[in-house]
Amino acid sequence: MKDLFGKALLDYQNGNYTVDLITSTNISDDDALPLPYLFRSFKDMPKLEQHALKLSKGNILDVGCGSGSHTLYLQDKGLQVKAIDISEGAITVCKQRGVLNAELKGLLDETETFDTILLLMNGTGIFQTVKQVSAYLTHLKSLLNTNGQILIDSSDIQYMYLDEDGGFWQDINANYYGELDYFLSYKNEKEDPMKWLYLDFNLLLTACQAVGLKCEMLAEGEHYDYLAKISV
Ligand SMILES: C[S@@+](CC[C@H](N)C(=O)[O-])C[C@H]1O[C@@H](n2cnc3c(N)ncnc32)[C@H](O)[C@@H]1O
Repeated sequence: MKDLFGKALLDYQNGNYTVDLITSTNISDDDALPLPYLFRSFKDMPKLEQHALKLSKGNILDVGCGSGSHTLYLQDKGLQVKAIDISEGAITVCKQRGVLNAELKGLLDETETFDTILLLMNGTGIFQTVKQVSAYLTHLKSLLNTNGQILIDSSDIQYMYLDEDGGFWQDINANYYGELDYFLSYKNEKEDPMKWLYLDFNLLLTACQAVGLKCEMLAEGEHYDYLAKISV
């Protein structure tokens, strides 16, 4: 991993913002991911994220924390938060922004236990493929304190496969429609391709039930997106 995501966060944090990250997928063209969005304050966050932050309590883990925006909001409220990310640049930025407990670590390497685990900005993306969902959910379950909760957002992206006549065009031999190849570039450098998973609520629910977890829809957004609460 070249950590272009982290490089972009560092540039923005250090006052060197000139261009945005460019993302695309196997089913969509280039799209800008504006760097200021990755530094959003509570008032600029989507309602689903605000909802998740308001429900966060106890000892909290922010998984895939990015620049630490969610962590900082909760930390400022006096809550105890640990922020983890696999991007070195992201963790450096978190520390520069004042996150007290930020660690360069992947979710599967985390071993402490928490009352609230946050996975926000399409949290299911971190699972990468449908095949890996059960391993990630089982691991998340092991990180929950008694009465703990996992707050996670995602989208049902079936709408991306609708043609002008309202027909669904996906190749029937293809993998699950939310399993995408994700490409990222920054300042003309290309990141190694990665997998990114959008899980519709029903599939998340089924996967949770299969590993002995409950899953509840807390809120739906304006564009096929939702916030779910997972618990034992
Ligand atoms: C879409 S960004 C979201 C960043 C932040 N949560 C936000 O809302 O601004 C996803 C983040 O997850 C991190 N990530 C990806 N896979 C991860 C893993 N297995 N464990 C921890 N973090 C991961 C990426 O490096 C990236 O910072």
